[in-house]
Amino acid sequence: MIITIDGPAAAGKGTVSAYLAEKYKLAYFDTGMVYRAVGLQMVLTESDVNDEAKAEQVAKELSFPKMMELSKHKDFRSDIGGQAASVVSAHPKVRAALLKMQQNFALNPTFADGTSAKGVVYDGRDTGTVVCPDAELKLFITASTEIRAQRRYKEFVEKGIQTSYEKVLEDMVTRDKRDSSRSAAPLKPAEDAIIIDTSSLNINEVLQKIIPLVEAKL
Ligand code: C5P
Repeated sequence: MIITIDGPAAAGKGTVSAYLAEKYKLAYFDTGMVYRAVGLQMVLTESDVNDEAKAEQVAKELSFPKMMELSKHKDFRSDIGGQAASVVSAHPKVRAALLKMQQNFALNPTFADGTSAKGVVYDGRDTGTVVCPDAELKLFITASTEIRAQRRYKEFVEKGIQTSYEKVLEDMVTRDKRDSSRSAAPLKPAEDAIIIDTSSLNINEVLQKIIPLVEAKL
């Protein structure tokens, strides 16, 4: 069973994906991590994130253990990591270099402890359109920019990351624009995706909409 959950930042994809993975005993692949890992590695080595050839080389050398190591860095989840990921992910050669790694996960999905899973929940921007076009269930989760910026700001405050709501909103608008307007795999719902707007819904209400869709596919 492959479920893809795509959509813009802070729409609720991560929470929904983790919940579904736990409930239906599926592995979880947060594909934003591969782009964050490449972006952060570029920043840490003082490389220009706009340098496609260099970013492609970093992407080709990326392994799962390296990605997990980078994910512990303080800027992996911060806006520095998010913006760097957004720039490197717009390079077609970087996307091509990271595609197989993402697709291969579905061939032998595993939980964090290494045991095998019967399927995967993919979370990202193009998992229903490019990574797994044959997924059994495709969801596109979205919400208004202001609501998403409020959610992201709250997350940062809870994690002790210093920022302001205005800065988070500005970064979100920039990132949304870059993700939606890039030529390679722009952020858009797959034709057969079910679109869920979470602007006025709490997490329980979102799950009440999604669970029957999953059950129907089981
Ligand atoms: O989801 P997350 O915020 O961690 O993603 C970071 C960035 O990685 C996104 O803004 C997007 O530019 C890029 N990304 C992507 N394709 C994916 C997942 C993430 O282009 N499947």
